[in-house]
Amino acid sequence: MTDEKVKWNSNLSFLLAMIGSAVGLGNIWRFPYVAYTNGGGAFLIPYILSIIFLGIPLLFVEYGAGYKFKSGISKIAHKINSKYEYIGWFIQASPFLILTYYVVVVAWDLIYVPLSFFKGWGPKPEEFFTNTILQNSADPSGLFSIAIYVLIALIIVWAIVWFISHRNLNDGVGKANRILTPLLFICMIIIVAFAVTLPGASLGLTTLFTPDWNSVLNPNIWVAAFGQILFSLSIGMTITLAYASYLPDETNIPRSALTVAIANSSFEVFTAAGVFSILGFMSTTNNIPIGELVSQGTGLAFVAFPEIFNVMGTLGYVIGPLFFLCLLFAGITSNISIIEPLALSVQDKFNISRSRAVSIISIVAFVISLLFATTYGSTLLGVFDTFVNQFGLLLNVTLQTILIAVIYGLDKLLPGINKNATFLKLGKKWILLVTYIIPVISFILWIQAVFTNVIFVDSATMIVEFILLMIMLILPYILTRATPKSGDY
Ligand code: PFF
Repeated sequence: MTDEKVKWNSNLSFLLAMIGSAVGLGNIWRFPYVAYTNGGGAFLIPYILSIIFLGIPLLFVEYGAGYKFKSGISKIAHKINSKYEYIGWFIQASPFLILTYYVVVVAWDLIYVPLSFFKGWGPKPEEFFTNTILQNSADPSGLFSIAIYVLIALIIVWAIVWFISHRNLNDGVGKANRILTPLLFICMIIIVAFAVTLPGASLGLTTLFTPDWNSVLNPNIWVAAFGQILFSLSIGMTITLAYASYLPDETNIPRSALTVAIANSSFEVFTAAGVFSILGFMSTTNNIPIGELVSQGTGLAFVAFPEIFNVMGTLGYVIGPLFFLCLLFAGITSNISIIEPLALSVQDKFNISRSRAVSIISIVAFVISLLFATTYGSTLLGVFDTFVNQFGLLLNVTLQTILIAVIYGLDKLLPGINKNATFLKLGKKWILLVTYIIPVISFILWIQAVFTNVIFVDSATMIVEFILLMIMLILPYILTRATPKSGDY
Protein backbone atom coordinates (compact mmCIF):
# COMPACT_ATOMS: atom_id res chain seq x y z
CA MET A 1 0.00 0.00 0.00
CA THR A 2 2.99 2.29 0.20
CA ASP A 3 2.46 4.82 -2.52
CA GLU A 4 5.98 5.14 -3.93
CA LYS A 5 4.89 7.81 -6.35
CA VAL A 6 3.65 10.42 -3.91
CA LYS A 7 5.25 13.77 -4.83
CA TRP A 8 4.99 17.39 -3.75
CA ASN A 9 2.46 19.10 -5.99
CA SER A 10 4.63 22.21 -6.23
CA ASN A 11 8.12 23.36 -5.43
CA LEU A 12 6.65 26.05 -3.20
CA SER A 13 4.88 23.47 -1.03
CA PHE A 14 8.15 21.65 -0.54
CA LEU A 15 10.12 24.82 0.22
CA LEU A 16 7.54 26.07 2.70
CA ALA A 17 7.48 22.67 4.40
CA MET A 18 11.28 22.65 4.64
CA ILE A 19 11.37 26.20 5.97
CA GLY A 20 8.47 25.43 8.33
CA SER A 21 10.49 22.54 9.70
CA ALA A 22 13.72 24.47 10.04
CA VAL A 23 12.14 27.54 11.58
CA GLY A 24 11.12 26.41 15.02
CA LEU A 25 11.52 27.15 18.65
CA GLY A 26 15.27 26.86 18.07
CA ASN A 27 15.25 30.02 15.98
CA ILE A 28 13.02 32.07 18.19
CA TRP A 29 14.61 31.63 21.56
CA ARG A 30 17.65 29.42 21.21
CA PHE A 31 19.53 31.52 18.66
CA PRO A 32 19.28 34.89 20.48
CA TYR A 33 20.53 33.28 23.66
CA VAL A 34 23.37 31.37 22.02
CA ALA A 35 24.50 34.39 19.99
CA TYR A 36 24.43 36.68 22.99
CA THR A 37 26.37 34.38 25.30
CA ASN A 38 28.96 33.59 22.65
CA GLY A 39 30.48 36.85 21.59
CA GLY A 40 27.48 38.82 20.25
CA GLY A 41 28.30 40.17 16.82
CA ALA A 42 31.51 38.15 16.71
CA PHE A 43 29.41 34.98 16.94
CA LEU A 44 28.26 35.68 13.40
CA ILE A 45 31.70 34.70 12.06
CA PRO A 46 31.75 31.08 13.28
CA TYR A 47 28.02 30.99 12.66
CA ILE A 48 28.27 31.93 8.98
CA LEU A 49 31.28 29.66 8.47
CA SER A 50 29.33 26.80 10.07
CA ILE A 51 26.46 27.35 7.67
CA ILE A 52 28.80 27.23 4.68
CA PHE A 53 31.08 24.39 5.72
CA LEU A 54 28.81 22.25 7.84
CA GLY A 55 25.11 23.08 7.54
CA ILE A 56 24.72 23.39 3.79
CA PRO A 57 27.04 20.47 2.87
CA LEU A 58 25.09 18.21 5.25
CA LEU A 59 21.80 19.49 3.92
CA PHE A 60 22.99 18.40 0.46
CA VAL A 61 23.65 14.90 1.81
CA GLU A 62 20.10 14.54 3.18
CA TYR A 63 18.62 16.07 0.02
CA GLY A 64 20.70 13.84 -2.23
CA ALA A 65 19.95 10.63 -0.32
CA GLY A 66 16.20 11.30 -0.04
CA TYR A 67 15.99 12.24 -3.71
CA LYS A 68 17.91 9.20 -4.87
CA PHE A 69 16.46 6.47 -2.65
CA LYS A 70 12.92 7.83 -2.31
CA SER A 71 12.70 6.25 1.13
CA GLY A 72 13.45 6.82 4.79
CA ILE A 73 16.82 6.27 6.46
CA SER A 74 16.09 2.71 7.65
CA LYS A 75 15.35 1.45 4.18
CA ILE A 76 18.30 3.41 2.78
CA ALA A 77 20.57 1.75 5.36
CA HIS A 78 19.05 -1.62 4.49
CA LYS A 79 19.62 -1.04 0.78
CA ILE A 80 23.24 -0.03 1.31
CA ASN A 81 23.68 -3.33 3.13
CA SER A 82 21.07 -5.18 5.17
CA LYS A 83 23.50 -5.37 8.09
CA TYR A 84 23.23 -1.57 8.48
CA GLU A 85 19.46 -1.46 8.87
CA TYR A 86 19.82 -1.30 12.65
CA ILE A 87 21.80 1.95 12.30
CA GLY A 88 18.98 3.39 10.22
CA TRP A 89 16.42 2.67 12.95
CA PHE A 90 18.83 3.83 15.64
CA ILE A 91 19.13 7.19 13.87
CA GLN A 92 15.33 7.52 14.02
CA ALA A 93 15.17 6.96 17.78
CA SER A 94 16.25 10.53 18.57
CA PRO A 95 13.67 12.23 16.33
CA PHE A 96 11.06 9.96 17.90
CA LEU A 97 12.04 11.04 21.40
CA ILE A 98 12.09 14.69 20.31
CA LEU A 99 8.55 14.25 19.03
CA THR A 100 7.39 13.06 22.46
CA TYR A 101 8.45 16.24 24.27
CA TYR A 102 8.39 18.93 21.59
CA VAL A 103 4.58 18.62 21.44
CA VAL A 104 4.53 19.45 25.13
CA VAL A 105 6.38 22.74 24.65
CA VAL A 106 3.89 23.56 21.88
CA ALA A 107 1.11 22.66 24.35
CA TRP A 108 2.50 25.12 26.92
CA ASP A 109 2.46 27.71 24.19
CA LEU A 110 -1.12 26.89 23.26
CA ILE A 111 -2.11 27.72 26.84
CA TYR A 112 -0.39 31.11 26.52
CA VAL A 113 -2.15 32.11 23.30
CA PRO A 114 -5.56 32.78 24.91
CA LEU A 115 -3.91 34.03 28.13
CA SER A 116 -1.96 36.65 26.20
CA PHE A 117 -5.12 38.45 25.11
CA PHE A 118 -5.81 39.49 28.70
CA LYS A 119 -2.39 38.93 30.30
CA GLY A 120 -3.91 36.07 32.22
CA TRP A 121 -0.56 35.20 33.81
CA GLY A 122 -1.05 38.04 36.30
CA PRO A 123 1.64 40.18 37.92
CA LYS A 124 4.00 37.27 38.70
CA PRO A 125 4.56 35.27 35.49
CA GLU A 126 7.26 33.05 36.93
CA GLU A 127 5.10 31.81 39.80
CA PHE A 128 2.19 31.44 37.44
CA PHE A 129 4.15 29.32 34.97
CA THR A 130 5.80 27.12 37.60
CA ASN A 131 2.95 26.73 40.08
CA THR A 132 -0.26 27.13 38.10
CA ILE A 133 0.62 25.75 34.67
CA LEU A 134 3.37 23.22 35.32
CA GLN A 135 2.52 22.63 38.99
CA ASN A 136 6.17 21.80 39.00
CA SER A 137 7.61 19.31 41.42
CA ALA A 138 11.23 18.18 41.39
CA ASP A 139 10.22 14.94 43.08
CA PRO A 140 9.77 11.88 40.81
CA SER A 141 6.61 10.94 42.74
CA GLY A 142 5.10 13.84 40.77
CA LEU A 143 4.89 11.38 37.88
CA PHE A 144 1.66 10.20 39.43
CA SER A 145 -0.11 13.55 39.51
CA ILE A 146 -1.44 15.29 36.42
CA ALA A 147 -0.86 18.92 35.45
CA ILE A 148 -4.36 19.37 34.14
CA TYR A 149 -3.92 22.43 31.87
CA VAL A 150 -0.91 20.87 30.22
CA LEU A 151 -2.83 17.65 29.68
CA ILE A 152 -5.78 19.39 28.02
CA ALA A 153 -3.52 21.49 25.78
CA LEU A 154 -1.44 18.44 24.93
CA ILE A 155 -4.50 16.52 23.75
CA ILE A 156 -5.50 19.45 21.53
CA VAL A 157 -2.00 19.79 20.03
CA TRP A 158 -1.84 16.07 19.32
CA ALA A 159 -5.25 16.20 17.65
CA ILE A 160 -4.05 19.02 15.39
CA VAL A 161 -0.74 17.35 14.58
CA TRP A 162 -2.35 13.98 13.89
CA PHE A 163 -5.07 15.56 11.78
CA ILE A 164 -2.55 17.34 9.55
CA SER A 165 -0.07 14.51 9.25
CA HIS A 166 -2.41 11.57 8.68
CA ARG A 167 -3.87 13.11 5.52
CA ASN A 168 -2.08 12.65 2.23
CA LEU A 169 1.11 14.64 1.78
CA ASN A 170 -0.18 17.61 -0.19
CA ASP A 171 -3.55 17.98 1.55
CA GLY A 172 -2.00 17.65 5.01
CA VAL A 173 1.62 18.66 5.47
CA GLY A 174 1.73 20.63 2.21
CA LYS A 175 -1.39 22.68 2.86
CA ALA A 176 -0.65 23.29 6.55
CA ASN A 177 2.77 24.70 5.70
CA ARG A 178 1.39 26.83 2.88
CA ILE A 179 -0.80 28.52 5.46
CA LEU A 180 1.24 28.45 8.68
CA THR A 181 4.73 29.27 7.39
CA PRO A 182 3.71 32.58 5.71
CA LEU A 183 1.56 33.45 8.75
CA LEU A 184 4.58 32.87 10.98
CA PHE A 185 6.66 35.24 8.85
CA ILE A 186 3.97 37.92 8.82
CA CYS A 187 3.50 37.80 12.62
CA MET A 188 7.24 37.97 13.15
CA ILE A 189 7.67 40.94 10.80
CA ILE A 190 4.99 42.85 12.71
CA ILE A 191 6.61 42.02 16.06
CA VAL A 192 10.09 43.09 14.94
CA ALA A 193 8.74 46.28 13.33
CA PHE A 194 7.11 47.20 16.64
CA ALA A 195 10.04 46.03 18.71
CA VAL A 196 12.74 48.15 17.07
CA THR A 197 10.74 51.32 17.75
CA LEU A 198 10.49 50.66 21.49
CA PRO A 199 12.47 52.90 23.83
CA GLY A 200 15.72 51.11 24.69
CA ALA A 201 15.66 48.96 21.53
CA SER A 202 19.03 50.30 20.42
CA LEU A 203 20.57 49.18 23.69
CA GLY A 204 19.36 45.64 22.99
CA LEU A 205 20.59 45.71 19.41
CA THR A 206 24.00 47.02 20.42
CA THR A 207 24.27 44.32 23.06
CA LEU A 208 23.42 41.62 20.56
CA PHE A 209 25.55 42.78 17.67
CA THR A 210 28.62 44.39 19.26
CA PRO A 211 31.43 42.02 18.37
CA ASP A 212 33.72 40.74 21.05
CA TRP A 213 36.59 39.89 18.72
CA ASN A 214 38.64 38.06 21.34
CA SER A 215 35.92 35.48 21.59
CA VAL A 216 36.50 34.31 18.01
CA LEU A 217 39.63 32.60 19.32
CA ASN A 218 37.64 30.70 21.92
CA PRO A 219 36.89 27.13 20.72
CA ASN A 220 33.64 27.01 22.73
CA ILE A 221 32.15 29.61 20.43
CA TRP A 222 32.82 27.39 17.47
CA VAL A 223 31.22 24.46 19.22
CA ALA A 224 28.19 26.62 20.01
CA ALA A 225 27.93 27.80 16.39
CA PHE A 226 28.17 24.25 15.02
CA GLY A 227 25.52 23.08 17.47
CA GLN A 228 23.17 25.91 16.65
CA ILE A 229 23.40 25.29 12.92
CA LEU A 230 22.79 21.57 13.25
CA PHE A 231 19.75 22.13 15.43
CA SER A 232 18.42 25.04 13.46
CA LEU A 233 18.59 23.28 10.11
CA SER A 234 17.16 20.13 11.75
CA ILE A 235 20.20 18.13 10.62
CA GLY A 236 20.47 14.58 11.95
CA MET A 237 16.71 14.34 12.46
CA THR A 238 16.25 12.87 8.93
CA ILE A 239 13.42 15.31 8.26
CA THR A 240 15.07 16.76 5.15
CA LEU A 241 15.74 13.27 3.89
CA ALA A 242 12.05 12.35 4.19
CA TYR A 243 10.78 15.59 2.67
CA ALA A 244 13.31 15.31 -0.18
CA SER A 245 12.15 11.78 -0.95
CA TYR A 246 8.92 13.28 -2.33
CA LEU A 247 10.73 15.68 -4.68
CA PRO A 248 9.80 15.60 -8.34
CA ASP A 249 12.61 14.69 -10.75
CA GLU A 250 13.04 18.18 -12.14
CA THR A 251 14.03 19.81 -8.81
CA ASN A 252 17.09 22.04 -8.73
CA ILE A 253 18.54 20.62 -5.51
CA PRO A 254 21.45 22.99 -4.82
CA ARG A 255 19.23 26.03 -5.32
CA SER A 256 16.53 24.58 -3.11
CA ALA A 257 18.93 23.70 -0.28
CA LEU A 258 20.51 27.17 -0.40
CA THR A 259 17.08 28.81 -0.28
CA VAL A 260 16.16 26.87 2.84
CA ALA A 261 19.46 27.60 4.59
CA ILE A 262 19.37 31.31 3.78
CA ALA A 263 15.68 31.70 4.72
CA ASN A 264 16.26 29.91 8.02
CA SER A 265 19.26 31.96 9.05
CA SER A 266 17.79 35.26 7.90
CA PHE A 267 14.71 34.52 9.98
CA GLU A 268 16.87 33.62 12.94
CA VAL A 269 18.96 36.80 12.86
CA PHE A 270 15.89 38.96 12.14
CA THR A 271 14.01 37.41 15.07
CA ALA A 272 17.01 37.91 17.35
CA ALA A 273 16.96 41.62 16.50
CA GLY A 274 13.33 41.75 17.61
CA VAL A 275 13.91 39.73 20.76
CA PHE A 276 16.88 41.88 21.79
CA SER A 277 15.03 45.12 21.06
CA ILE A 278 12.36 43.94 23.45
CA LEU A 279 14.97 42.96 26.04
CA GLY A 280 16.60 46.39 25.61
CA PHE A 281 13.23 47.98 26.29
CA MET A 282 12.73 45.91 29.44
CA SER A 283 16.23 46.67 30.62
CA THR A 284 15.78 50.42 30.15
CA THR A 285 12.33 50.54 31.70
CA ASN A 286 13.10 48.45 34.75
CA ASN A 287 16.80 49.10 35.15
CA ILE A 288 17.71 45.43 34.93
CA PRO A 289 20.92 44.57 33.05
CA ILE A 290 20.17 42.73 29.79
CA GLY A 291 22.36 39.83 30.88
CA GLU A 292 19.97 39.06 33.71
CA LEU A 293 16.99 38.98 31.39
CA VAL A 294 18.38 36.45 28.96
CA SER A 295 17.95 32.86 29.89
CA GLN A 296 17.99 29.67 27.97
CA GLY A 297 15.15 27.30 27.39
CA THR A 298 11.62 27.84 28.46
CA GLY A 299 12.33 30.73 30.80
CA LEU A 300 12.60 33.36 28.10
CA ALA A 301 9.41 32.39 26.34
CA PHE A 302 7.03 31.70 29.19
CA VAL A 303 8.47 33.83 31.95
CA ALA A 304 10.55 36.72 30.63
CA PHE A 305 8.17 37.55 27.78
CA PRO A 306 4.99 37.69 29.89
CA GLU A 307 6.93 39.94 32.29
CA ILE A 308 7.82 42.21 29.41
CA PHE A 309 4.26 42.27 28.04
CA ASN A 310 3.10 43.31 31.51
CA VAL A 311 5.46 46.30 31.43
CA MET A 312 4.49 47.24 27.86
CA GLY A 313 1.00 48.42 28.72
CA THR A 314 -1.51 48.37 25.86
CA LEU A 315 1.09 47.40 23.26
CA GLY A 316 1.53 44.16 25.21
CA TYR A 317 -2.00 43.13 24.20
CA VAL A 318 -0.90 43.21 20.56
CA ILE A 319 2.66 41.92 20.68
CA GLY A 320 1.85 39.26 23.28
CA PRO A 321 -0.70 37.32 21.22
CA LEU A 322 1.40 37.74 18.07
CA PHE A 323 4.43 36.35 19.84
CA PHE A 324 2.68 33.28 21.22
CA LEU A 325 0.96 32.68 17.88
CA CYS A 326 4.36 32.80 16.17
CA LEU A 327 5.65 30.17 18.56
CA LEU A 328 2.55 28.07 17.94
CA PHE A 329 2.89 28.17 14.16
CA ALA A 330 6.62 27.53 14.35
CA GLY A 331 6.05 24.66 16.75
CA ILE A 332 3.31 22.95 14.76
CA THR A 333 5.17 23.07 11.45
CA SER A 334 8.26 21.61 13.14
CA ASN A 335 6.18 19.00 14.89
CA ILE A 336 4.54 17.68 11.76
CA SER A 337 7.93 17.60 10.08
CA ILE A 338 9.41 15.29 12.68
CA ILE A 339 6.63 12.71 12.33
CA GLU A 340 7.34 12.49 8.60
CA PRO A 341 10.60 10.47 8.58
CA LEU A 342 9.21 8.10 11.20
CA ALA A 343 5.99 7.55 9.27
CA LEU A 344 7.93 7.07 6.06
CA SER A 345 10.17 4.38 7.56
CA VAL A 346 7.24 2.51 9.08
CA GLN A 347 5.41 2.62 5.72
CA ASP A 348 8.55 1.48 3.90
CA LYS A 349 8.95 -1.56 6.08
CA PHE A 350 5.42 -2.63 6.93
CA ASN A 351 3.67 -1.60 3.74
CA ILE A 352 0.81 0.15 5.50
CA SER A 353 -0.94 3.38 4.51
CA ARG A 354 0.42 6.77 5.51
CA SER A 355 -2.63 7.38 7.61
CA ARG A 356 -2.11 4.18 9.62
CA ALA A 357 1.60 4.79 10.05
CA VAL A 358 0.98 8.31 11.35
CA SER A 359 -1.78 7.06 13.65
CA ILE A 360 0.39 4.33 15.16
CA ILE A 361 3.33 6.68 15.75
CA SER A 362 1.06 9.38 17.15
CA ILE A 363 -0.57 7.00 19.62
CA VAL A 364 2.73 5.62 20.91
CA ALA A 365 4.33 9.08 21.14
CA PHE A 366 1.17 10.47 22.74
CA VAL A 367 1.28 7.87 25.50
CA ILE A 368 4.93 8.70 26.23
CA SER A 369 4.24 12.42 26.10
CA LEU A 370 1.72 11.99 28.93
CA LEU A 371 4.73 11.72 31.23
CA PHE A 372 5.38 15.40 30.57
CA ALA A 373 1.81 16.33 31.50
CA THR A 374 2.54 15.33 35.07
CA THR A 375 3.88 17.61 37.76
CA TYR A 376 7.35 16.06 37.34
CA GLY A 377 6.99 16.59 33.58
CA SER A 378 9.02 19.73 33.05
CA THR A 379 11.96 18.37 35.03
CA LEU A 380 11.86 15.21 32.97
CA LEU A 381 11.55 17.19 29.77
CA GLY A 382 14.80 18.98 30.53
CA VAL A 383 16.62 15.66 30.89
CA PHE A 384 15.14 14.29 27.65
CA ASP A 385 16.05 17.44 25.77
CA THR A 386 19.66 17.57 26.92
CA PHE A 387 20.24 13.89 26.35
CA VAL A 388 18.70 13.74 22.90
CA ASN A 389 20.45 16.89 21.69
CA GLN A 390 23.86 16.28 23.17
CA PHE A 391 24.03 12.52 22.85
CA GLY A 392 21.55 11.52 20.15
CA LEU A 393 21.65 14.17 17.45
CA LEU A 394 25.40 14.66 17.34
CA LEU A 395 25.88 10.91 17.16
CA ASN A 396 23.26 10.78 14.41
CA VAL A 397 25.18 13.29 12.31
CA THR A 398 28.32 11.20 12.67
CA LEU A 399 26.60 7.90 11.90
CA GLN A 400 24.61 9.26 9.02
CA THR A 401 27.61 10.82 7.31
CA ILE A 402 29.65 7.68 7.81
CA LEU A 403 26.85 5.56 6.39
CA ILE A 404 26.02 7.69 3.38
CA ALA A 405 29.33 9.39 2.62
CA VAL A 406 32.02 6.96 3.75
CA ILE A 407 30.32 3.59 3.23
CA TYR A 408 27.92 4.25 0.37
CA GLY A 409 29.84 7.02 -1.38
CA LEU A 410 28.73 10.52 -2.23
CA ASP A 411 29.83 10.19 -5.82
CA LYS A 412 26.72 8.07 -6.33
CA LEU A 413 24.49 10.92 -5.14
CA LEU A 414 26.20 13.54 -7.31
CA PRO A 415 24.39 12.89 -10.62
CA GLY A 416 20.99 13.32 -8.93
CA ILE A 417 22.02 16.46 -7.06
CA ASN A 418 23.59 18.08 -10.10
CA LYS A 419 20.97 16.94 -12.59
CA ASN A 420 18.99 20.18 -12.68
CA ALA A 421 21.58 22.41 -11.02
CA THR A 422 22.25 25.72 -12.68
CA PHE A 423 24.65 28.10 -10.95
CA LEU A 424 26.03 25.73 -8.33
CA LYS A 425 27.19 22.23 -9.13
CA LEU A 426 28.72 20.04 -6.45
CA GLY A 427 31.96 18.17 -6.95
CA LYS A 428 35.13 16.83 -5.36
CA LYS A 429 35.47 19.51 -2.69
CA TRP A 430 32.05 18.74 -1.27
CA ILE A 431 32.82 15.01 -1.29
CA LEU A 432 36.14 15.50 0.49
CA LEU A 433 34.64 17.81 3.08
CA VAL A 434 31.72 15.54 3.93
CA THR A 435 33.60 12.27 3.76
CA TYR A 436 36.81 13.13 5.60
CA ILE A 437 36.33 16.27 7.65
CA ILE A 438 32.73 16.51 8.85
CA PRO A 439 32.50 13.03 10.47
CA VAL A 440 35.67 13.79 12.43
CA ILE A 441 34.38 17.18 13.56
CA SER A 442 30.96 15.84 14.54
CA PHE A 443 32.54 12.93 16.40
CA ILE A 444 34.80 15.28 18.38
CA LEU A 445 31.83 17.49 19.18
CA TRP A 446 29.90 14.44 20.32
CA ILE A 447 32.66 13.35 22.70
CA GLN A 448 32.93 16.87 24.03
CA ALA A 449 29.15 17.12 24.53
CA VAL A 450 28.90 13.74 26.23
CA PHE A 451 31.66 14.64 28.69
CA THR A 452 30.27 18.08 29.45
CA ASN A 453 26.55 17.42 29.63
CA VAL A 454 25.72 13.72 29.78
CA ILE A 455 28.10 11.83 32.04
CA PHE A 456 28.58 14.03 35.07
CA VAL A 457 25.00 14.38 36.25
CA ASP A 458 23.03 13.62 39.40
CA SER A 459 21.76 10.10 40.00
CA ALA A 460 18.09 10.77 39.09
CA THR A 461 19.21 12.19 35.74
CA MET A 462 21.53 9.25 35.26
CA ILE A 463 18.63 6.81 35.69
CA VAL A 464 16.50 8.62 33.12
CA GLU A 465 19.45 8.77 30.71
CA PHE A 466 19.97 5.05 31.14
CA ILE A 467 16.31 4.32 30.35
CA LEU A 468 16.51 6.55 27.28
CA LEU A 469 19.65 4.83 26.12
CA MET A 470 17.93 1.45 26.49
CA ILE A 471 14.95 2.68 24.44
CA MET A 472 17.35 4.00 21.80
CA LEU A 473 19.10 0.64 21.59
CA ILE A 474 16.24 -1.85 21.99
CA LEU A 475 13.45 -0.28 19.91
CA PRO A 476 15.62 -0.18 16.76
CA TYR A 477 16.56 -3.80 17.38
CA ILE A 478 12.91 -4.88 17.47
CA LEU A 479 12.11 -2.90 14.32
CA THR A 480 15.14 -4.31 12.52
CA ARG A 481 14.21 -7.89 13.40
CA ALA A 482 10.57 -7.45 12.40
CA THR A 483 9.74 -9.16 9.13
CA PRO A 484 9.26 -6.64 6.32
CA LYS A 485 5.83 -6.69 4.71
CA SER A 486 6.99 -4.89 1.66
CA GLY A 487 8.26 -6.87 -1.32
CA ASP A 488 11.08 -4.52 -2.33
CA TYR A 489 12.60 -4.19 1.14
N1 PFF B 1 14.96 23.38 13.38
C1 PFF B 1 14.02 23.14 14.42
C2 PFF B 1 14.06 24.30 15.39
O1 PFF B 1 14.89 25.20 15.18
O2 PFF B 1 13.28 24.35 16.33
C3 PFF B 1 14.41 21.88 15.06
C4 PFF B 1 13.28 20.97 15.27
C5 PFF B 1 12.96 20.59 16.52
C6 PFF B 1 12.57 20.47 14.19
C7 PFF B 1 11.92 19.76 16.74
C8 PFF B 1 11.53 19.61 14.41
C9 PFF B 1 11.19 19.30 15.68
F1 PFF B 1 10.15 18.51 15.90
